[in-house]
Amino acid sequence: MKKLQGIYEYAAQMTAKGKVATYIPALATADPNAFAVSLVSMEDKIVFGECTQLFTLQSVVKVFSFMVAMNHHGIKEIMRYVDVEPTGDSFDSIVRLESHNNKPFNPMINAGAITVASLLPGETMHEKVKSVTLFLEKIIGKKVHIDNEVYLSEYHAADYNRAIAYILQANGFLKSDVEEALQVYLQLCSISVNVEDLAVMALYFATNGKNSAATCSKEVIHIAKALMFTCGMYNASGKFAAFIGLPAKSGVSGAIIAVVKNGTIEHLQGPIGIGIYGPAIDQVGNSVAGIAFLTQLSKEFDLFCL
Ligand code: DON
Repeated sequence: MKKLQGIYEYAAQMTAKGKVATYIPALATADPNAFAVSLVSMEDKIVFGECTQLFTLQSVVKVFSFMVAMNHHGIKEIMRYVDVEPTGDSFDSIVRLESHNNKPFNPMINAGAITVASLLPGETMHEKVKSVTLFLEKIIGKKVHIDNEVYLSEYHAADYNRAIAYILQANGFLKSDVEEALQVYLQLCSISVNVEDLAVMALYFATNGKNSAATCSKEVIHIAKALMFTCGMYNASGKFAAFIGLPAKSGVSGAIIAVVKNGTIEHLQGPIGIGIYGPAIDQVGNSVAGIAFLTQLSKEFDLFCL
């Protein structure tokens, strides 16, 4: 436990090098020094820091909404609307919406995630949101709630996302109207969890779905993991894959899920899910302490997955 504790303490100091997201006013109130980590195997768990603190999923939810849409419509149909290619651009970039036949490059950037939000099962905004919260509740094993303050704060600061949604609509990629797609997308970003929930969500991928009652085809889980590996950490995904080597997804709230298919970390063995909350983020949007923690962890415990 000493080695892991040391890595946590080293990474916790790195919070000073990041800044909390301020472009969504409600996120700006987060404690920049907060840093919590949870590691969960099928048998046991390890936690560092304040594990009851709630925060919003932000972009971490993009993996799960994509899976719900794929499970509902099938892989081929969803691939007509969104590709699985990395961009190397920032998550809210608009520049590539006029290339690649106007198709969003992947569901981990906002253009792809807004498209996916419009494709979710359900006739209304509430039903579409519910399709994802129900899936998450089956994975985590408890109810999840939407942080309405964060949602409203996002909705009133959504000019860029609205612009993206209008371009998507003009090019025939939205299955609902612009406002509904935005509301669904932003409500999903505002789902509130704690760091232990995140670790259990990561364990879902590590076990290929065997740790919970949530059903998802193996092919869809594989695609989701591949997307996390290639596009999950914004425009730092290549470096994350090269130097840490784990499928992972981050959000601007400072949340990260990281997936260890088969490893040994102290007394944890086999598939391990890692959840991190560290709201001080770097320029691309990743938790600074989270990246420091995962870099050391992967090295010390030989977790590189390829
Ligand atoms: O679209 C937004 O601005 C956020 N709700 C999602 C932010 C996030 O975590 C980064 N997006 N990929």
